[in-house]
Amino acid sequence: MQHHEHILKLKKSHTPYHQFTFDKVKLHRGYSNRILRIDLSKKETTILPVTQEMKDLFVGGKGFDMWLTFQEIDQDTKWDSDNNPICFSVGPLGGTTSFPGAGKTIVTAISPATASIMDSNVGGYFGPYLKFAGFDAMVIVGKAQADSIIYIDAVKGSLSIEAAPLEQLDSHIIAEDLTDIYADDDLDKRNISVVSAGSASEHSRMGLLNFSFFDWRRNVARFKQAGRGGIGTVFRNKKLKAIVIKNNGITPAWTVAESKVAKNTRPKKIIETTCKNEISKIDAVITKWNSNPDYLIEIMHHLMSEFKYISKTSIDRLNFHLKVPKSYIYQVATFYDAFSLEPKGEKTIQVCMGPGCHAKGAQTVLDTFKKELGIKEGETTPCQKYTLLASNCLGACDKAPLVKINDQIYGKVNPTDVKLILSGDFSNESALESPEIIQMPNHTPVCACGGDKHFSTFKKLLKENNAQNIIDLLTESKLKGRGGAGFLTGKKMQTVFDTHLEKKLDSVIVVNSAIFELDPLNVIEGILISALAVRANVGFICFRNEHLPALLKMNDAIKWAQAKNFLGKNILGSHFSFDLQVRHGAGSFVSGESSALLQTLVGRVGEPKAKYIKLAEVGFKKRPTLVCNIETIANIPQIIEKGVRWFTSIGKHSAGTKLLSISGDVKNPSFVEVPFGTTINEVIQNACGGVSNPKKRSLKFVQVGGPTGGYLPASMLEQKIDYDSLKEVGAIIGSGLISVKNDRKCLIDSLLYQVNFLANESCGKCTPCREGLNKAKAILQNIAKGKGSTSQLDLLEDIATTMQETSLCQFGKTASNPILSALRYFKEDFISHLEHKICASGVCKELTKFHINDKCTGCTLCAKVCPTGCIASKKKELHIIDQQKCIKCGACFDACNFKSVEVR
Ligand code: SF4
Ligand code: SF4
Ligand code: SF4
Ligand code: FES
Repeated sequence: MQHHEHILKLKKSHTPYHQFTFDKVKLHRGYSNRILRIDLSKKETTILPVTQEMKDLFVGGKGFDMWLTFQEIDQDTKWDSDNNPICFSVGPLGGTTSFPGAGKTIVTAISPATASIMDSNVGGYFGPYLKFAGFDAMVIVGKAQADSIIYIDAVKGSLSIEAAPLEQLDSHIIAEDLTDIYADDDLDKRNISVVSAGSASEHSRMGLLNFSFFDWRRNVARFKQAGRGGIGTVFRNKKLKAIVIKNNGITPAWTVAESKVAKNTRPKKIIETTCKNEISKIDAVITKWNSNPDYLIEIMHHLMSEFKYISKTSIDRLNFHLKVPKSYIYQVATFYDAFSLEPKGEKTIQVCMGPGCHAKGAQTVLDTFKKELGIKEGETTPCQKYTLLASNCLGACDKAPLVKINDQIYGKVNPTDVKLILSGDFSNESALESPEIIQMPNHTPVCACGGDKHFSTFKKLLKENNAQNIIDLLTESKLKGRGGAGFLTGKKMQTVFDTHLEKKLDSVIVVNSAIFELDPLNVIEGILISALAVRANVGFICFRNEHLPALLKMNDAIKWAQAKNFLGKNILGSHFSFDLQVRHGAGSFVSGESSALLQTLVGRVGEPKAKYIKLAEVGFKKRPTLVCNIETIANIPQIIEKGVRWFTSIGKHSAGTKLLSISGDVKNPSFVEVPFGTTINEVIQNACGGVSNPKKRSLKFVQVGGPTGGYLPASMLEQKIDYDSLKEVGAIIGSGLISVKNDRKCLIDSLLYQVNFLANESCGKCTPCREGLNKAKAILQNIAKGKGSTSQLDLLEDIATTMQETSLCQFGKTASNPILSALRYFKEDFISHLEHKICASGVCKELTKFHINDKCTGCTLCAKVCPTGCIASKKKELHIIDQQKCIKCGACFDACNFKSVEVR
């Protein structure tokens, strides 16, 4: 059934059985001086006066509610008595719709939970709409004859009580449906507010009331709750499904034109389609995923690839099929970068702006695309051919900078390659050398010949069927989680296994993929062994959708393992069954956090949750859940096969090896696996051939641990790579990324880039992380311009320490690492920017001037590379830069072989 048909059906099912009319009155000093009293049993509505005594004694709100309650009750009144009134009061000063929290209403009743009078305070638009309808308060007594809705139309001055048999009770559904029923058009939805109780109020004594307001920016009905006292339970006891109020002309204190905030937050344009063909295609996509809300993210990926955007019609259809509130669907559609409410172009160009690519000049590549296409980042060309985006790490940092166009990835892209990439014509042989084509859309499937050898350990363990034995071995091996926190895997497995035994619930395994393309069959074997250990029957591998090559390989490997019955029902004739599913991320870094990851698996926004309860005990769908990093899992078959002694003999301080990705200013950016205890210098020298261009440039600093890692100076290159040693010096193992920067990179600029990235990725749920990162970004922007005093550094340190100590999840806590380590080791760089107004690396443009000194030999090289032709050049004569025309690109500085170009 189409949504409008559903709304029509609901509307037709309403039977009004009581009507009342009233006049609107003007407010006088915040009061309308009237109270609306509805007796549901007697089907009677009256208007009572607000007396001067009431105003003198109580002002409004809570006091009015108490006064009115005592007018109705007697000593025998219980929570479920007819004369237990639900009172709604608004104060003379409250009640504006400027902001969702500003229109407070106090709601009062005798509580089913405490048997005393309880009041609750709630936002939303109901209070303001009631007040401007001409009522300072409303009292509801009695019980309705059938499930009913009270509809107050303040525009027409009418009230009706209607039997409403079909509406669902759940607030998110009934509020959306009633908003649709009573609004004349989309704009009119802003004039509707719905009070409802939800189905939980039927079964508990602590049901709350939900007050809706229509969020014009998101185009959905949202809620505020009157949570105290179980007033929702009283509401349902009176057989009320909802109270709907409609009013108009309630002007907020600001207008869109006047408000600075509103100017920047225009309502999103959500496009609706009436094309029947498109609607049936949307329905087909949703039903292909069994209309299962757990697959919401997968369905949205599917809709994106089919239609290039998520339309309003798609949101309506998802709401209808999945029975998920539109507000949730909208939230998912706008939280993840992979989804768009506006149509994307035929080709989506993603320029990787991850740390590795940024260090290799990705910004210039992005700028060149902007220039060529005539659009900004995030925009689509008017012909709808191209959409240009900046993306997070695409997973091949050794080939930085990367560009991805739909499923095609190009590596080592120079700005000069942009035209070639856009033309798509690589027929000329010389064109094949640069850029490097990393992944063709029609990839060759993984050859799994000889794959069975991977599963010999699993087969043995399957026969033995001894879960505790596997856990004991892994505990003894001291295998730590490779995802960052370094928690002992055996210990985690033990908790999952014990919970499984205690609660008799099958466990679940969730594996978070890293950017490395590991041997997928080895990973599957590791997952199967873990599943035997924790008694799991289902597992998920969560891939970031940017990591396409690894994802394709894993899909092939899973198909192979299913065909060989290493996955599926009764594996190899045993009683053990295991279903392994691949799930796609949607472009949110923070969704990799374990509690956030579990949210994505049930189609929700990947926001972290406070971990009062261990996920190992109460995880995916309340089942014991082992959340592991893919690299940890990949170690398991070998540990079991070769033994604990073999594993613990590798590495110092921590057992085993670590995969690292080294990018930036090194000769050969690489992915390497090294034993713990290897020094940073050994990795840079042995695996990457040292710093690039060593004659001219020297190493200035490294960032260790990925986006939330810490900065270490060149003097600390002998630092060992292991969990504890790195933590002591303010860095982390994190994602295993090491970004190497030479003396042409500015620490402040790098830190600003990093903090900006983190601020964009913060889910915004808790204040220290959300506000802290944005404040830190603003301070760093000042410092990069030499603005302000060094007292900002204390503030920066305070912010970072607060984030570290009080953020809700590991993201916010570790996001302080780059800031604190920079302040710890690079104070002189901050001082140089703030006090001497110099960026010694020649990066921060406001603080940089390039000059040619008298060592100049007049070789003319600088003049040749200068893009603006602003160097006065005569062979064998001292060259001079015209500062007016210089754009501070630094090309002359980089080109000169005689150190004649200086930064001042
Ligand atoms: S610390 Fe940051 S990412 Fe984590 S919950 Fe808080 S705002 Fe979200
Ligand atoms: S490259 Fe250096 S030496 Fe050559 S002309 Fe320019 S400043 Fe002078
Ligand atoms: S910094 Fe760039 S624009 Fe300025 S003189 Fe040097 S090469 Fe020319
Ligand atoms: S591929 Fe660009 S930073 Fe990793």
